[in-house]
Amino acid sequence: MSEQARKAAGIVAQRVPGFTPRVGLTLGSGLGALADQVENATVIPFGDLPGFPEPSVAGHQGRLLLGRLGCQDVACLQGRVHLYEGHPPQAVVPLVRTLKLIGCETYFATNAAGALDPDAQPGQLMLITDHINLQFGNPLVGPNDDQFGPRFPPMDGAYDAEHQALLRTAASDLGIELREGVYLATLGPSFESHAEVRAFGLLGANAVGMSTVPEVIVARHCGMRAAAVSVLTNLAAGLSDMVLSHEQTLHYGQAAAADMTRLVLGFLERLPAKG
Ligand code: HPA
Repeated sequence: MSEQARKAAGIVAQRVPGFTPRVGLTLGSGLGALADQVENATVIPFGDLPGFPEPSVAGHQGRLLLGRLGCQDVACLQGRVHLYEGHPPQAVVPLVRTLKLIGCETYFATNAAGALDPDAQPGQLMLITDHINLQFGNPLVGPNDDQFGPRFPPMDGAYDAEHQALLRTAASDLGIELREGVYLATLGPSFESHAEVRAFGLLGANAVGMSTVPEVIVARHCGMRAAAVSVLTNLAAGLSDMVLSHEQTLHYGQAAAADMTRLVLGFLERLPAKG
């Protein structure tokens, strides 16, 4: 996994010599529009990068964009690995470690999620403040690569407090309503049963989705700061009359893409100078 990341980072370095992105972003379901804002983008299809799988889900394109977003150099993963596609949890390792090796200090995930709070509205954004891993797998299972991080990495403060504060400030300055809470990751691909939704609420989760957690675990293991924002594309199963579908996820993902784009740009603008 680490070897693939090293090779992939070498390929990136060949294509964009001297380019050192500060933030690595993953664009979730229906949120690819953010990629259109990347200026002077160098595009590398996942197929050219060792260990980067070809995503199979509509709304996930499978390419790495390197360029300028707002006032920062960034690397955007347009597409991600979902465990429900049949990948082992370790399959997210090369993507996130490649971001680390090309210089990213921060890993920023966006995703689509179902709201567990009945007062949420589809299309609202939620700042992730912590997570619950119910994917029954961990991407760091297997031999540890000590060059990236420790065998037993802590998950305290996994979602960087300073980044959270910047996101809250950016949202308030931009007039974007930003909910916040705990994201619970399931394996998927089935949506939740009504009993699961009730159980997840009791566990203390505010949103449920099928991604992000393994990525953040890998990012924290190798010392990157992490930040993540969900688009709440629906109320979780049983909390409304809506029948859940991936089309609905894409629809509300796209509807919220403008707010997500403004929020991410606002965050990048407010990042203090490197130091
Ligand atoms: N559950 C799980 N994942 C999701 C949902 C949901 O309700 N909506 C978007 N992604």
